[in-house]
Amino acid sequence: MTLLRIETPRAYEPFLRPSRYKGAKGGRGSGKSHFFAELGVERSLMRPGSRGVCIREVQKTLKESAKRLIEDKIKALGVADRFTVLNTEIKTPGGGVILFQGMQDHTSESIKSLEGFDWAWVEEAQTLSARSLEMLRPTIRAEDSEIWFSWNPRNASDPVDQLLSGPEPPPDAIVRHVNYTDNPFFTAVLESERALDERARPGRYGHVWLGQYEPVAIGAIWDRLMLHRNRRAEMPALKRIVVSVDPAVSSERGSDEHGIVVCGVGEDGRGYVLADYTTKGGPRQWADRAVAALDQFDADAIVIERNQGGDMCRHTLESVRPSVRVIEVTATRGKHVRAEPIAALYSLDRVSHVGTHARLEDQMCQMTAGGYEGEGSPDRVDALVWGMTELFRAVVRGPGKPAPKVQQYGGAGSWMG
Ligand SMILES: Nc1ncnc2c1ncn2[C@@H]1O[C@H](COP(=O)(O)OP(=O)(O)OP(=O)(O)O)[C@@H](O)[C@H]1O
Ligand SMILES: [Mg+2]
Repeated sequence: MTLLRIETPRAYEPFLRPSRYKGAKGGRGSGKSHFFAELGVERSLMRPGSRGVCIREVQKTLKESAKRLIEDKIKALGVADRFTVLNTEIKTPGGGVILFQGMQDHTSESIKSLEGFDWAWVEEAQTLSARSLEMLRPTIRAEDSEIWFSWNPRNASDPVDQLLSGPEPPPDAIVRHVNYTDNPFFTAVLESERALDERARPGRYGHVWLGQYEPVAIGAIWDRLMLHRNRRAEMPALKRIVVSVDPAVSSERGSDEHGIVVCGVGEDGRGYVLADYTTKGGPRQWADRAVAALDQFDADAIVIERNQGGDMCRHTLESVRPSVRVIEVTATRGKHVRAEPIAALYSLDRVSHVGTHARLEDQMCQMTAGGYEGEGSPDRVDALVWGMTELFRAVVRGPGKPAPKVQQYGGAGSWMG
């Protein structure tokens, strides 16, 4: 007989007793993934023949799954002779198995293949949709089966938060908030990353490292929910793409950034935010980046705000790429007034972010009807608003209002309209 020794951080000890629901939520590096990976290996050993599944909302490749971590745990615990690691699954003692799956690949039919499973672990559960959670819970139905969740909370309205951190969690649920201070294995590399964020990104720190909900302002014209519910993993077919730039007044005001955002309009008529290439530095830097983005996305034009520096911005772009097509726009209204029609498109679910643009989204969620409530100036939002306004010009203008003043240049100095 072999003796299995697993050192469990104190904060995780409550999870060692049986419970239908176990949830560890908290910031980066708190040991959540390592703990549940060990628990999965342990359960496979203690209950021969048991079947487990490691789940994510989206799992495009096995590399994104916990497979590698579980393999490492099997080796580190010295029990490699009891397991057989195959390409897509791990055979466990007594004819059991550990699988790795994405909920988005499941239908209400295919999920039935998981009936009779003994444990399921949902990694990054903050991204789990209501549909996925609803499908999963009654599926894992073996006697004494358990469902585990690890996540970094984004929003109180996310389905996993509603289930486990809401007013009425399941009666036997074990839920703990854990942070890096609860992880005795926290590494020096992670510590230096943490310290850097604490200094340089105070607005994100609470969410990233302490597991707090993402920052929002009261009365914000965008909210996380509308961003998350429309988020896409892949870029759809697009009709038109623009790179939009909100150049900072001067590169001297050290903290200001040049907002650079790439957005497009899909063949489905919806708006898509593809990239945020916002940067600091001199004019040459933002111009280089904007032109690089233009090439990368094969965009149609660069939209730029003309206010700051007259023709300067266009000349700067043309010095990088003489043939660049520039659409100059002029601000006649305040930032948040310009932003509102675009926020309205979002609330109609007509805009999706392809991937996550955390810093842009932070700025968006601190934009209120009364102005910007975040630190510094909302350069990323400004760039986004210019790009979307260009793509949705008719919608944004509304009936009976004059078109915004727009000058277009194509090629070196030639007028286009
Ligand atoms: N049981 C353990 N044994 C060895 N190292 C561990 C253990 N638990 C945590 N660590 C170390 O701490 C680091 C952070 O742990 P882990 O990846 O589990 O955190 P997490 O809470 O899942 O964070 P993230 O949100 O970044 O995924 C690991 O990369 C590893 O270096
Ligand atoms: Mg993790």
